[in-house]
Amino acid sequence: MSPETADLTQTLAADNLQCAIPTDPAAIVIFGASGDLVKRKLIPALYDLATHACLAPRYAILGFARSPMTDDSFRSATGDAIRRISEVGPVDPARWSDFARCLAYFQGEYHDPQAYQKLVARLAELDRERGLGGNRLFYLSTPPELYGPVIEQLGRAGLSRPANDKSWVRIIIEKPFGRDLASAKNLNSVVLRSFDESQVYRIDHYLGKDTVQNLLVFRFGNSIFEPLWNRNYINHVQITAAETLGVERRASYYETAGAIRDMIQNHVLQLVSMVAMEAPAIFDATAVRNEKLKVLQSIRPYGPEAISKLVVRGQYGAGTIAGAAVPAYRQEPSVKPDSRTETFVAAKLAIDNWRWAGVPFYIRSGKRLNRRVSEIAIRFHRAPHVMFRGRNISPNWMVVNIQPDEGISLSFEAKLPGPEMKIRTVTMDFTYKEAFGPGSRSAYATLLNDCMRGDATLFDRADSVEAAWTLVDPILQAWQNSPVSFPNYPAGSWGPQEAMDLLVRDGQAWRFS
Ligand code: BG6
Repeated sequence: MSPETADLTQTLAADNLQCAIPTDPAAIVIFGASGDLVKRKLIPALYDLATHACLAPRYAILGFARSPMTDDSFRSATGDAIRRISEVGPVDPARWSDFARCLAYFQGEYHDPQAYQKLVARLAELDRERGLGGNRLFYLSTPPELYGPVIEQLGRAGLSRPANDKSWVRIIIEKPFGRDLASAKNLNSVVLRSFDESQVYRIDHYLGKDTVQNLLVFRFGNSIFEPLWNRNYINHVQITAAETLGVERRASYYETAGAIRDMIQNHVLQLVSMVAMEAPAIFDATAVRNEKLKVLQSIRPYGPEAISKLVVRGQYGAGTIAGAAVPAYRQEPSVKPDSRTETFVAAKLAIDNWRWAGVPFYIRSGKRLNRRVSEIAIRFHRAPHVMFRGRNISPNWMVVNIQPDEGISLSFEAKLPGPEMKIRTVTMDFTYKEAFGPGSRSAYATLLNDCMRGDATLFDRADSVEAAWTLVDPILQAWQNSPVSFPNYPAGSWGPQEAMDLLVRDGQAWRFS
């Protein structure tokens, strides 16, 4: 990189994260404030927004939870966490103390109507003291079984409606949104009894990742890729969301979820929609979400026979990751010794529409896999006729690296220098770091910022959550009634053999296996 380019990327990195217009003043109430997500992701994201002039100078963040805590102990718990574990980089003490002044804690029982009456009074007080104009953002980060009760109580206390015609009230609901189709529908009806759909922001943090949003710019802001983006040129698509981490300290949640509810129903199907959608007429929440919904509705539903052939589940046994021995899932704390929870899923999807007829989408996600990588790999058809007889010609690939090396790479064939016609595959790479410098914003910060501006483009709508569950429900039911033989892949591998066979049967192979 030349010194001029290096300067430019540094400036870009610093500027990119600043906001030209801050959000409206508001009170942000986080339910489940003593939880891990709040310390690891939400408070760091809000701090990042505050320090880059994205939040209005007047705001208040009120943590709501059952644990006894004072404002000060909440401030120091979140302060310790941001310094220890968050991704926002070094924390400036002066900036942190400015930010911490806007943090407060509210102890309450989630089911207790009186707690919400007190919350009404506390919010009115914050409005008066800080001039917040009655704007409120509620963030549900509790265990999922509390979403319904909290929403109902907010409705009963009159907190779901704006106080006047100039203020707004919005609610962000964490995933998992339901645990099957029936519970998702039920939760949607609970939400919509108290809130209007326009107030509801169902969050999927994958949509806040720059690389995922960049799919829209890449596909619809350039003229050279979209003509190739269909069955005439694309042979198949592989989507991988692989983690090296195990279940960590989340077994009590994960045991009730498994990889299909935790990753496939939401993050991975979101990626499928972003890759496969048609061009929206405009970049707004309705147009983009309409197109994504159509993709989910076009995915061929699985019947029982297709599930046994096209969907693979796995659970990790003991193994080695980066040279260190790690235990089997069934030996993790709080996991049942005969747990049937899957930690890996792979599947072959068919999208029944004109663009994608006959193009398989292979998807997979798992914990304790060989390496951390999330990517979308597009495999193009081979050249129709190869005139270089006896030479091995590889097909072209385009890979969108979602993480950890954010960027896009295109591989193609090139002639080696020298007198002979020797051919080798080379790649052309765009990386976020090189092009824009090291600064990046967490997905949570992006999404919180969007919600506070009233932009729901990157959030899920009631109909698309239900469409995703419609696909996943028959798989859950089939698995409930069929035997499993777990563990079936060692930690540190790329998953069970059946996941490899899914592609081998079609004469293909995963990019990593
Ligand atoms: C969360 C899942 O939604 O996404 C976790 O609950 C998973 O189990 C995480 O580890 C992966 O997110 P990322 O951004 O690290 O790929």
